[in-house]
Amino acid sequence: MSTTLCEVSDFQECEAREFQIGDQNLILIHWHGSWYAYRNSCPHANWPLNIQPDVFFDSDEQFLQCSNHMALFDIETGVCKAGPCVGDSLSAVRVKVIENQVLVEL
Ligand code: FES
Repeated sequence: MSTTLCEVSDFQECEAREFQIGDQNLILIHWHGSWYAYRNSCPHANWPLNIQPDVFFDSDEQFLQCSNHMALFDIETGVCKAGPCVGDSLSAVRVKVIENQVLVEL
């Protein structure tokens, strides 16, 4: 099922935001011209990555960072590159852009 999250023009370049769709908590990321989405659940402890609203990047904006125990995740693949769950992955959600709409497949 496709669900519209937002419009392309709602997002800045290198921005990540949280969306709640029913019981699903998602992270949508616009990064260097591409779109990525993951379930907002860290594979280390299955907690949301963020503590503050929409804070998902590390200080250099090169990785997604879990605010709980600082795991760093590759933005393009969701694979943990540093921290307590190295090698584990975020659960990816398929994103597509149709005209100005950003949709996810749930
Ligand atoms: S819950 Fe994410 S690093 Fe521990």
